Amino acid sequence: MPNVVVIGAQWGDEGKGRIVDLISEKVDIIVRYQGGNNAGHTIVIGDEKIVLHHLPSGILRENKLSVIGNGVVVDPKVLLAEIKELRAAGYTADETNLRISDRAHVIMPYHRAIDLARESMNGKGRIGTTGRGIGPVYEDKAARRGIKFADLIDPDSLSSRLKEVLEERNLYLTKVLGGDALDFEEIFEEYSEYGKELKKLSCDVSTLLNNSISNGQNVLFEGAQGALLDIDFGTYPYVTSSSSGSGGASIGTGVSPTTIDTVLGIAKAYTTRVGEGPFPTEMSGELEEKLRQAGGEFGATTGRSRRCGWFDAFAMKYAAQINGISWIALTKLDVLSGFDKINVCVGYKYKGKELSSFPSTNHVLQEVEPIYEEMEGWKEDISDVKDVSDLPVQARSYLENLEKLTRVPIYTVSVGPSREKIIFLHELFS
Ligand code: GDP
Ligand code: IMO
Ligand code: MG
Repeated sequence: MPNVVVIGAQWGDEGKGRIVDLISEKVDIIVRYQGGNNAGHTIVIGDEKIVLHHLPSGILRENKLSVIGNGVVVDPKVLLAEIKELRAAGYTADETNLRISDRAHVIMPYHRAIDLARESMNGKGRIGTTGRGIGPVYEDKAARRGIKFADLIDPDSLSSRLKEVLEERNLYLTKVLGGDALDFEEIFEEYSEYGKELKKLSCDVSTLLNNSISNGQNVLFEGAQGALLDIDFGTYPYVTSSSSGSGGASIGTGVSPTTIDTVLGIAKAYTTRVGEGPFPTEMSGELEEKLRQAGGEFGATTGRSRRCGWFDAFAMKYAAQINGISWIALTKLDVLSGFDKINVCVGYKYKGKELSSFPSTNHVLQEVEPIYEEMEGWKEDISDVKDVSDLPVQARSYLENLEKLTRVPIYTVSVGPSREKIIFLHELFS
């Protein structure tokens, strides 16, 4: 079993959680390497649906170690609630199977307050964030005024760091954003309690992972968000604030890139996006609503309606190039049953000319015209199909075309949200 990175190949919500859950059976350690509780990773086991925001999607498997890497931003209140909920459902989430990097940065109340205040001020220019404080906490990390997990679990350190940063953050909150100042004592009291509860999970993640790999164990790196939400390579400024691509796996865990063997890109059989920003293959009207309802396209974190559109092979080729995607796990093929015609975007035109590469600026992306290839749809319900040869011929042609257009082979196709609703096209992780 190689060390594998699982990333979203589109704008998030591709079904990473269910694929990580699937593969985690075969690995020893599952590690989240970036993002925070802006993520919502859904796993369906029988009638039970679990949405994980902070914990790696391997946490539901017995005898696996789940790790939160240094690149993740942790909201301790949310994390503790998630741990409690899982335990109540009968799963293990304690020091026997869970570790958190002492270098991970902590989401503080002022991060959430700043995020929400900015979003409500920005009117039309808003990003449409999840409101979880993600941008502000990564800003503080880069500005060198962050509070790390190591500070959270040490009351002296928490007190001095919080004193250093809160004064300035309060000035910003009140004078620039017109919000209310936050109280040092209140935050300190609440957060030092969280620190006490979480202290036993603290760990030097880089040493843990490197030693484990040296001892022959396998690691699965679980990305959050998606390639097109990446801070460097996504549709900036309508992105998240971390490196959600495969490169982030190394930065966010302290494991060298040479240790990573395979990158698995998760893509929906169509495209969705939550929040603002360019979306060249976006549908509208009845067609979009039909797809949204068929796919249950409502956010796992915020409940917002997801914007829906056709599969964008041009954007996917770009995502594959940046991230070295070696295999695609295609999800939600079942949702396309019943569409007479299915479009696939094969390129973009800008001011009448076909582009040779994915645009790097927002104003170009907002104006591009997708070039579509129209394909025949299928009527059959495919949600019980177990073997690719039992798919309707149009569905098989669709898969072949996606492989050809993206130049990436398909590893699995899923036809329903639960564990068993998956078709294997190759055996990768035996
Ligand atoms: P993630 O953030 O990438 O883990 O994805 P989300 O959990 O936010 O969204 C994916 C949604 O699609 C969840 O509700 C899943 O249960 C659901 N899902 C995943 N794979 C399939 C599939 O093959 N078919 C259908 N119908 N639903 C799926
Ligand atoms: P998972 O891991 C889909 C989007 C937000 C917004 C932008 C910035 O479940 O795929 P942020 O709160 O990160 O500052 O918001 O990124 N976004 C996601 N969209 N899936 C996610 O996570 C997302 N996490 C953030 O909607 O457009
Ligand atoms: Mg999600």
